[in-house]
Amino acid sequence: MPTVDVSSSAALRLFDAVVGRRTICSGWRLFATKADTHRWHQRQSKDPYVKLRHEHNYRARSAFKLIEIDDKFRLLRPGSVVVELGAAPGAWSQVVVERANCLSQVKDQPIGFVLGVDLQPIAPLSGAEFISMGDITLKETQDAIRQRLDDRLVDLVLSDMAPNPTGSAPTDHIRIVKLCAIALRLAVAGDVVRLKQGGGAFVCKLWGGVDTDELVAATRKYFTKVNIYKPPASRDDSSELFIVAKNFIGIQNE
Ligand SMILES: C[S@@+](CC[C@H](N)C(=O)[O-])C[C@H]1O[C@@H](n2cnc3c(N)ncnc32)[C@H](O)[C@@H]1O
Repeated sequence: MPTVDVSSSAALRLFDAVVGRRTICSGWRLFATKADTHRWHQRQSKDPYVKLRHEHNYRARSAFKLIEIDDKFRLLRPGSVVVELGAAPGAWSQVVVERANCLSQVKDQPIGFVLGVDLQPIAPLSGAEFISMGDITLKETQDAIRQRLDDRLVDLVLSDMAPNPTGSAPTDHIRIVKLCAIALRLAVAGDVVRLKQGGGAFVCKLWGGVDTDELVAATRKYFTKVNIYKPPASRDDSSELFIVAKNFIGIQNE
């Protein structure tokens, strides 16, 4: 595999900018109040996706966000090779296993592969491979991803990673953009994941804020089709957005 010098790439510059920035973690609340718990139960009981989640046996309602993203942008097909960053508890992986035919349930169609990684433990899921308790910012986790991919070319890198919210929207924005920049770097640099040129795609969750445009601009350097999308399953009162990037063009001269 040719080595790619990413030292001058937009992803790396963005990575340095956000990782080098100080984050001020103010407003931590360690315990939910009774009112918080009551609000949470009320919201859950009214949410149609919570009911659907139980009907379809998904590990979390977030499954429907990926389903809606995929229905709109057509990213998954039988045989897709997928790397999923921030995979616990495994709801997105369940969707990938179904749509990429990882269990060979559709005969005569290619069999897909999904490798999920998370800081948290992930319960085993038939058809998926996981690296549990792996921090994707660490070299040892990146080495484990490279090893488990075993020279496969990757069709899609998904990041649903999220830091623990602090309660301060600007701080949470900076912290999630940092994770997005790391995910983008992993997707495009070619030293951990070898994303398919031409067909490779990247999806990344963020909480919108001042650095959204810079992140989108950095993504456009590597993909010819880049959209920002808020799937209907994403709650209206959340600043959550997804960058959906298609048609990886590799690292061009910058
Ligand atoms: C919203 S959850 C992912 C939900 C998952 N997509 C699903 O559908 O089941 C976000 C996850 O990002 C993980 N995460 C945050 N920072 C991470 C990091 N540095 N490395 C790996 N995972 C990380 C968290 O542990 C958390 O489980």
